[in-house]
Amino acid sequence: MKFFIDTANLAQIHEAHDLGVLDGVTTNPSLMAKEGITGHDNIVNHYKAICEITDGDVSAEVIATNYNEIIKEGEALAKLHSKIVVKVPMIKDGVKALRYFSSKGIKTNCTLVFSSGQALLAAKAGATYVSPFIGRLDDVSTDGLSLIEDIRLIYDNYGFKTQILAASVRHPMHIVDCAKIGADVITAPLSAITALLKHPLTDNGLAQFLADHAKGAGK
Ligand code: G3P
Repeated sequence: MKFFIDTANLAQIHEAHDLGVLDGVTTNPSLMAKEGITGHDNIVNHYKAICEITDGDVSAEVIATNYNEIIKEGEALAKLHSKIVVKVPMIKDGVKALRYFSSKGIKTNCTLVFSSGQALLAAKAGATYVSPFIGRLDDVSTDGLSLIEDIRLIYDNYGFKTQILAASVRHPMHIVDCAKIGADVITAPLSAITALLKHPLTDNGLAQFLADHAKGAGK
């Protein structure tokens, strides 16, 4: 399973990269705004900076919502760097754009997916990645992980190559459960990724080992 980090924060991307487990980055307009990245040139330069840190794919989302503008914006984003994946919303013009980008060999991430029907459509349109938002489904009392299971079943039934990118991941057990279900990728905040490290028995055990070593060190 690939690990992507879901942020536009360069320090956090560096930290995940340095940990040696990072396979890519996803961003969205809200995450860019959170970092204070506004205006065309700043946004473009920020995507380029992210591409320089990570070895893997970097999702950059279009703002346009009509077909011609999505194509124009997506092609410009794809030209920025070979790692750029054009992130396209699950809307009618977005689905048409996914097919176009696929025919041109431009990688895509179909975002804002909340149903298995939407995921089926994204795969039919040739999306590279599909992003079901599991945390936002949990927020409205709907089981996000069940959606990942359903999409896995549908894609395996027909051999769709679209990769399931579990998004809106909020905590470490989301990551573990996505791995059990067979998501191809998770994208998560740094806090959820580093939380996988933690177990009190590890901390207690290490403290004991070091204390026992220290006792013997003077002998
Ligand atoms: O990038 C899309 C998704 O991961 C957003 O997550 O936590 O805002 O629902 P969240």
